[in-house]
Amino acid sequence: MLGVSGGIAAYKAVEICRRLVDAGAWVSPVMTNAATRFVGQTTLSALASEPVRRSLWDEPEPIPHTRLGQGADLVIVAPATARVIGAYAAGISSDLLTATLLATRAPVLLCPAMHTEMWEHPAVRENVATLRRRGVHVVEPAAGRLAGGDLGTGRLADPADIVAAAAGILGLERRPGRPPGSGSGLAGVAGLAGLAGVVAVVTAGGTREPLDPVRYIGNRSSGKQGYAVAAELARRGASVQLISTVSRPAPPGVAVTAVETAAQMGVAVREAAGSAQVVVMAAAVADFRPKAVAPEKIKKQDGPPEVVLEPTPDILAGLGRARRPGQVIVGFAAETVAPSAAAPLGRTLRDYARAKLDSKGADLIVANDVAAPGVGFAHDTNAVLIVGRGGFEADIALTNKDVVAAAVVDAIAALINRPTPVNRPTQEEQEQS
Ligand code: PMT
Repeated sequence: MLGVSGGIAAYKAVEICRRLVDAGAWVSPVMTNAATRFVGQTTLSALASEPVRRSLWDEPEPIPHTRLGQGADLVIVAPATARVIGAYAAGISSDLLTATLLATRAPVLLCPAMHTEMWEHPAVRENVATLRRRGVHVVEPAAGRLAGGDLGTGRLADPADIVAAAAGILGLERRPGRPPGSGSGLAGVAGLAGLAGVVAVVTAGGTREPLDPVRYIGNRSSGKQGYAVAAELARRGASVQLISTVSRPAPPGVAVTAVETAAQMGVAVREAAGSAQVVVMAAAVADFRPKAVAPEKIKKQDGPPEVVLEPTPDILAGLGRARRPGQVIVGFAAETVAPSAAAPLGRTLRDYARAKLDSKGADLIVANDVAAPGVGFAHDTNAVLIVGRGGFEADIALTNKDVVAAAVVDAIAALINRPTPVNRPTQEEQEQS
């Protein structure tokens, strides 16, 4: 059961619902009246293929809260407002959602979202602590931009983290006497850990090519997108090595190897790729590096130096050439696509992506137009076109980088689980190559 209460983050319940359904869950949505002011119940019921329930009184079944509570394998409340948390902690059942929370013996996962002042209020802290003591699971809210433009802690956690937490609970907790999956079907979410046993290598960040001991040629990559891909792969059970040029907290369960230059990244990737089934090159690797590195700091008084560049080895293309059977090679493509009329030869992001798919010998290319607002380097958001063999395409509109990562990992998982026909070049592609 997915309970949605009335906060601005209610719109993210749509994404949570979609992810649960994609993972094979049977989702019964329950909304409070306030939630319907933030997100349409038609949206949720269409995604869940289940009617949204809102009332203790107007449902076809006479006692909907006990039916919902007894039938659920897991009750998720996202977002959980201060009111719902307070009512649940105090045992007050003033609407269908809070009545169901009291009527269920299934594990409950609360995902609070509210303004920082409310989240830090002693009453809310005590209510959350009380519920935790009673065994309720809580996915803490994140820090970031809140409604009204304020910054602070209180944002609903990422939908991917919430669904991963749900999968973890379903994997660990079974109600006594009920075999997994005998209830609503939500136990299917445990299938999210669908990449168990898969070894993956991901690169992240921009390489730095030294000019002298203090200066380098670099780029604006923050590593956010690569880290998000690594985190998503690990969440789904893969064993992940992240080869990174940036200093960020390692995602849970991910081993990080630090590198700086394209050459160092190449060595680390080739070594790790030997035993990996999946390699994702999300890093922004320099195409050129200074041919000579000055052994001492270049002195200003000597005047501007003349820097001669040489090409770096193309790591991704090398992987494509040396690919082992069954290995999935994923490249990214950072492009700047001019408005269509002015684009060189009228080329689109799709054209660039398909050209890189071939020139790099990759199975998937994740292309982003890094000149578009909110897309690519350093942003928390991205918009990508994922292209693959056999005409595969997934167009991901501007969204958080972890949602993009989930789409990339979905495409990888599809290749691993269904090596044909997506993974294999079409007749036409074979003839062209
Ligand atoms: O790190 P963020 O701030 O989150 O930003 C994300 C991103 C913009 C860096 C990411 O989405 C992205 O686009 N990464 C690829 C950047 C890039 O180098 O694109 P490219 O089109 O120049 O290279 C194509 C592919 O070849 C990439 O997979 C790259 O890793 C790889 N490459 C490039 C050069 C080289 N010498 N060796 C390579 O393997």
